[in-house]
Amino acid sequence: MFQRKTALITGASRGIGRAIALELAQCGINRLLLVARNASALAELATEIEKLQSQVKVITLPLDLTQAVAVNVTLTKAWREYGPIHLLVNCAGVAYQSSFLDSKLPQVYEEFSLNLMGTFTITRLIARRMTSQREGTIVNVSSLMGKVGAPTMSTYSATKFALLGFTQALRGELAPYNVRVVALVPSLTDTDMVRRLQLFRWIVPMTPQEVAQAFVRGLQKVSRKF
Ligand SMILES: NC(=O)c1ccc[n+]([C@@H]2O[C@H](COP(=O)([O-])OP(=O)(O)OC[C@H]3O[C@@H](n4cnc5c(N)ncnc54)[C@H](OP(=O)(O)O)[C@@H]3O)[C@@H](O)[C@H]2O)c1
Repeated sequence: MFQRKTALITGASRGIGRAIALELAQCGINRLLLVARNASALAELATEIEKLQSQVKVITLPLDLTQAVAVNVTLTKAWREYGPIHLLVNCAGVAYQSSFLDSKLPQVYEEFSLNLMGTFTITRLIARRMTSQREGTIVNVSSLMGKVGAPTMSTYSATKFALLGFTQALRGELAPYNVRVVALVPSLTDTDMVRRLQLFRWIVPMTPQEVAQAFVRGLQKVSRKF
């Protein structure tokens, strides 16, 4: 299923995105484009993947996804040099926990800028090219908090609900071009994001590896070929 395919994963420097990159490498994907801000964490992951699976080609693209111009320039160049991209995994995200009444606007802006605008920016660039090649799969990483609004996570929940609406709308719009759009909806997962949160400590989290394995099983169900 993954042979001769190229995937771009955002949020690949740690947590769920990193685990998805490792899982896809183990599944025999041909090429991985890894996006996040932390260049050295991406380089370390690239080395780890190349040691584990020497046939996988890994390209790191250090990028802040809230910077639309840089995203545009880097992705246009990356598609030219390493494309076509068959699978886009929009995993980068940020969460702040706070009572709504005490919420801080810069954090609210950061959640909307990355979780929504960052996702829209990169998806538009890639989706346009996928529709031209009449092939592709886009996976938007939402959350259980995109299904059930969680007190103290109002902005985060709002962004994750929005991502599900975005996914559903795009699914219909891009289907005629043979581009599939699906959502991954993880529950609490043991990553840096969750370690920062004060609440929900009583829930036993999944591991990022478990989420990544469920992601691959889900993709296989959606289609034998993406
Ligand atoms: N952990 C959970 O319980 C849970 C549950 C459901 C859904 N999710 C979702 O799963 C996704 C991954 O979360 P995680 O738990 O793995 O979080 P994490 O460990 O905090 O990782 C977040 C990732 O996003 C990247 N990122 C943050 N800001 C960025 C920016 N401005 N530009 C580019 N990349 C940026 C980070 O890399 P850099 O810092 O290097 O940029 C990192 O790779 C998120 O969308 C999250 O909402 C998480």
